[in-house]
Amino acid sequence: MNAHAAGQRWWHGATLYQIYVRSWRDSNGDGYGDLRGVIGGLDYLAWLGVDGIWLSPTMPSPDHDWGYDVSDYLAVHPDLGTMDDLDELVAQAGRRGMRVLLDLVPNHTSSAHPWFVDARSGRGAAHRGYYIWADPAPGGGYPNNWRSVTGAPAWTFDDASGQYYLNNFLPSQPDLNWREPAVHAEFGAILRFWFGRGIAGFRIDVAQGLYKDEALRDDPPAGKGRMAGRSGLTQVHSANRPESHGVFRDWRAIAETYSPPRLLLGETWVSDLARMAAFHGHGDELQLTFNFPAIFADFTAGALSGVVAETLAALPAGECPVWTASNHDISRFPTRWCGGDEAKARLALLVLATLPGTFVLYYGDEIAMTDVNIPAGGSRDEISAGVPAATVRDRARTPMPWDASPSAGFTAPGVRPWLPIGEHAGSNVASQRDDPASTLRFCRDLLALRRAEFGGTIAAYTQLPGPPGVWVYRAGGVVVAANFTGEPACLGELAGPLLLSTSRAAARPEPAGQASRLGAWEGVIVRGGGAVT
Ligand code: GLC
Repeated sequence: MNAHAAGQRWWHGATLYQIYVRSWRDSNGDGYGDLRGVIGGLDYLAWLGVDGIWLSPTMPSPDHDWGYDVSDYLAVHPDLGTMDDLDELVAQAGRRGMRVLLDLVPNHTSSAHPWFVDARSGRGAAHRGYYIWADPAPGGGYPNNWRSVTGAPAWTFDDASGQYYLNNFLPSQPDLNWREPAVHAEFGAILRFWFGRGIAGFRIDVAQGLYKDEALRDDPPAGKGRMAGRSGLTQVHSANRPESHGVFRDWRAIAETYSPPRLLLGETWVSDLARMAAFHGHGDELQLTFNFPAIFADFTAGALSGVVAETLAALPAGECPVWTASNHDISRFPTRWCGGDEAKARLALLVLATLPGTFVLYYGDEIAMTDVNIPAGGSRDEISAGVPAATVRDRARTPMPWDASPSAGFTAPGVRPWLPIGEHAGSNVASQRDDPASTLRFCRDLLALRRAEFGGTIAAYTQLPGPPGVWVYRAGGVVVAANFTGEPACLGELAGPLLLSTSRAAARPEPAGQASRLGAWEGVIVRGGGAVT
């Protein structure tokens, strides 16, 4: 079949929805969300208008990093459900026109994975070479200066064999050795196993990390900037090696043997767009890459339009950008960008959903869910241990507020959820669903418009002139004007009828149907390609 036939690149112009499974819907009253909970929420997602779901880790794990420490790549975590539940979820989603992506963690396993249990049994163990071992430095101590994501040395001493193993995350997450051919064979089989079961693709964890410098050279000191991390080093040797591209070429070849091709979406945690774009190869590696420079851009017209232009210039022709602003590792955008201001959150949604490419919502974005304070000692995240309370990752992982009840409709009444539920009496899915002026209803209208205008395509994007602080662009057959200022703005004549505004009609500065003026922080979508004067 022609790989470019309709539906084959279904993610072009599509909306994906990330579900942090433990926090979305709890079907069995244990305080943790689960797969049957997700099944119960599929009608909601179909109503909202998403095309695909990315489930945060679903595989068995001792949960030192909530599933990002996998102990079996071919099974379902018993706390989340069974393989039958997952099969049913995929089938039920499919009936509603939605595809399901899983999370794949190839940079490291759990220390409880049988490969590592064997590997640490001795220097001659069959799986020893699956991991990265090094002798102490001459005179003793760590083999080099590499540091893990927590800032601690990235090496853990193994008494039994007298060597260190590498862990770029927790000691319970030993890094795999991608210089070992057997590791490639294992992951090829893992991909085929899931693709064959109807999984539409994978979000690939730590995609930039797979290979390490063979000579284990020290990393240089870090520069400044929001992505500098806690290690104080730039990971030019402990990650970000060019050999990873070979892995993604191989995986893409596997993905392309299915119809539609399976989707590879990289968590490409890199700070420059050229390096992000390199993960697309020559259109023969990852189809999609998370854009961290855009995520961490300031919430201004200048910064965001700038990073969009740079992204489009950096990506090889025909490659599809990804726009998102929240995930389970960072502060939610309605907090981080918008300070809890819902008008700003709608403006962010409007822009993200009208840029060319794939749009990824994180659960709760559609109701402008904000970060939730975690009381001292209440974090469940080992990787966040010791960080300031304001940056604990659990702030962005709290239960989805479905209704105003004390359990928020997330879990059974009286059950203590695994993380605190935020203030939700005034804002939850049920209350917003009933209110035509809500962010949820706005988001649903936005996704419907997006599907109608951009579904199946990567829209052509052109920035147009606009007043200071107002970002105006043409995307496909519509013009978007986004006022990133607290003052009303005059646009002159925007040709064509108003299709959607972030302000529900009553709050607009002029009658519905016209868009020559924007309110403070208002964004509009207008039909047509008329000039902005
Ligand atoms: C990714 C995940 C994060 C996890 C880390 C280690 O960054 O998104 O949650 O802790 O990888 O697997």
